[in-house]
Amino acid sequence: MKFLFIFINLCIGYQVYALRNTNFSTVWTNFTQDLQLSHATYSITILDNSTGNIIFSFNKDVGLAPASTLKTVTGAAALHYLGKDYRYKTLLEYSGNINPFGILNGYIYIVGSGDPSLGSWRWNETMGKVIMQRWVNLIAGKGIKHCRGIVLDLSVWPDQTQTIPAGYTWGDLGNYYGAGSSALNWRENQFRLILSPGLAVGDPVILVYIDHPPPSVIFINELITGPPGSGDRTNLYLAPDGTYGYLRGSLGIDSSKNISIGGAIPNSALFIADELRQGMGWSNATSIKIIYRKDINSTNRTTLDIYQSPPMSEIIYWFEQSSINMYGEVLVRTIAQMINSSINSILPVYCETEHGIEQTEVAVMDGSGLSPENRITTWAIARVLYNVQQRSPWFPLYEHALPTTNGIRMKGGYIHNALSYAGYVNHQVFSIITNNFNGQTITMRQKIWDLLDTLK
Ligand SMILES: *[C@@H]1O[C@H](CO)[C@@H](O)[C@H](O)[C@H]1NC(C)=O
Ligand SMILES: *[C@@H]1O[C@H](CO)[C@@H](O)[C@H](O)[C@H]1NC(C)=O
Ligand SMILES: *[C@@H]1O[C@H](CO)[C@@H](O)[C@H](O)[C@H]1NC(C)=O
Ligand SMILES: *[C@@H]1O[C@H](CO)[C@@H](O)[C@H](O)[C@H]1NC(C)=O
Ligand SMILES: *[C@@H]1O[C@H](CO)[C@@H](O)[C@H](O)[C@H]1NC(C)=O
Ligand SMILES: *[C@@H]1O[C@H](CO)[C@@H](O)[C@H](O)[C@H]1NC(C)=O
Ligand SMILES: *[C@@H]1O[C@H](CO)[C@@H](O)[C@H](O)[C@H]1NC(C)=O
Ligand SMILES: *[C@@H]1O[C@H](CO)[C@@H](O)[C@H](O)[C@H]1NC(C)=O
Ligand SMILES: *[C@@H]1O[C@H](CO)[C@@H](O)[C@H](O)[C@H]1NC(C)=O
Repeated sequence: MKFLFIFINLCIGYQVYALRNTNFSTVWTNFTQDLQLSHATYSITILDNSTGNIIFSFNKDVGLAPASTLKTVTGAAALHYLGKDYRYKTLLEYSGNINPFGILNGYIYIVGSGDPSLGSWRWNETMGKVIMQRWVNLIAGKGIKHCRGIVLDLSVWPDQTQTIPAGYTWGDLGNYYGAGSSALNWRENQFRLILSPGLAVGDPVILVYIDHPPPSVIFINELITGPPGSGDRTNLYLAPDGTYGYLRGSLGIDSSKNISIGGAIPNSALFIADELRQGMGWSNATSIKIIYRKDINSTNRTTLDIYQSPPMSEIIYWFEQSSINMYGEVLVRTIAQMINSSINSILPVYCETEHGIEQTEVAVMDGSGLSPENRITTWAIARVLYNVQQRSPWFPLYEHALPTTNGIRMKGGYIHNALSYAGYVNHQVFSIITNNFNGQTITMRQKIWDLLDTLK
């Protein structure tokens, strides 16, 4: 009886899948015949939301560049290893003693923990001006008027000040979305440049002003006013820890005045120290030092503040919603430190140990998806999405963090000639990646949305 029941169930199940299968394979075939995909590689995996069975797949075992859909895996790994309540702690401390005239014979220390949200505009309590005012008040409240200098303690991640994944491209590094991460991040390691087109095509573009400019960077503006309709083709080239920022490309003559483009802060530790210095009204001759190891002299520091970030659940929300690459790099780094593993092995290890996915399916260079060299299969992404939905207590938070795009709960990804989506629709879990399509991104995107509409 029991066997018969299962048998019938299987048959019904089979029919349902078979129907969906036939339908979807028709639209899929039509999709792949589109000329924009003539020289492309593409893959799709669609799983049944309640059984995990494959409803449809194509090239499911082929590793492709996932762009930002990799963030679905990074976000899941962060909630798994760090937990939804994890908070970063940034310390404000001082060394030495304060004399009756308000002179501290020591230093002010800011001790980083990697908090990616420190100074971010996305929460009221993390905003740069809010945190800075709090710290200025605490220092002034202690009666400190002068000190020997400001020390940035980056010893929690003792290497470079600004770390960039090896897979990011030179064209990305200077732009806001290519910002590196540090033990001390500030204002999401971004700043804004305000530009206006010139009066005639070929004229220089005017750099109107810079909002919160990175300290000690010299900007070289080589931007040219482009023809009508040519739009914003500007790019900032600025290396981590770099001194020269090159503005190159063009801005259409019919672009609005004072458009704003985002740049990456080349040294976020100096960025925060400079703002504290200004907030205290200290001269630009104030000594600012970065330390990479806990120095033996620093054992006797007095704590002024233990500033805590919003919880991981909220960090993950903005990470997925706004696709903030720097958050992804910080997350894999934080996990790497917690489980004592190398940064690039975090996602493969997570996929293998938690989801039974072979590590070779997940060859990644970062936690954001920005590196064009990243490779992962749609089969791996779909299984992570399926498993967390089946068994992770934090799934509601995770699902809520994913954007709703085209009426579907899904994360999108875009890097040069690569578009991808991964999410949940109508009792199905899906992951689709296209690499090396040609033509306009906007038309390609519409074609993928039309394809996904058939799953609704
Ligand atoms: C799928 O197949 C069913 C049954 O043959 C049909 O009614 C339906 O219109 C098809 N849907 C699509 C999107 O082709
Ligand atoms: C086939 O694909 C084209 C886009 O390449 C689309 O316009 C058309 O609606 C699709 N046809 C079907 C039956 O899905
Ligand atoms: C954030 O600040 C704005 C403006 O001050 C206020 O309207 C809003 O309610 C605040 N949000 C939270 C969550 O406190
Ligand atoms: C552009 O910004 C400058 C500097 O803030 C300001 O003086 C000017 O009025 C702005 N122009 C427009 C069109 O907004
Ligand atoms: C420091 O400030 C003085 C006076 O405000 C200015 O002349 C000098 O160029 C500044 N130096 C640096 C390194 O910014
Ligand atoms: C530590 O203290 C010793 C002795 O006071 C001093 O010589 C040395 O320069 C200090 N080191 C640092 C990094 O401040
Ligand atoms: C540590 O600091 C306190 C006051 O901040 C001071 O009284 C004490 O002597 C210091 N100890 C050492 C070993 O420097
Ligand atoms: C971390 O891993 C390294 C290399 O595998 C090992 O040498 C070290 O002892 C480990 N540290 C901890 C705290 O487990
Ligand atoms: C997944 O399937 C379950 C039923 O098995 C359903 O309750 C849930 O809403 C589905 N989730 C999504 C995101 O479609």
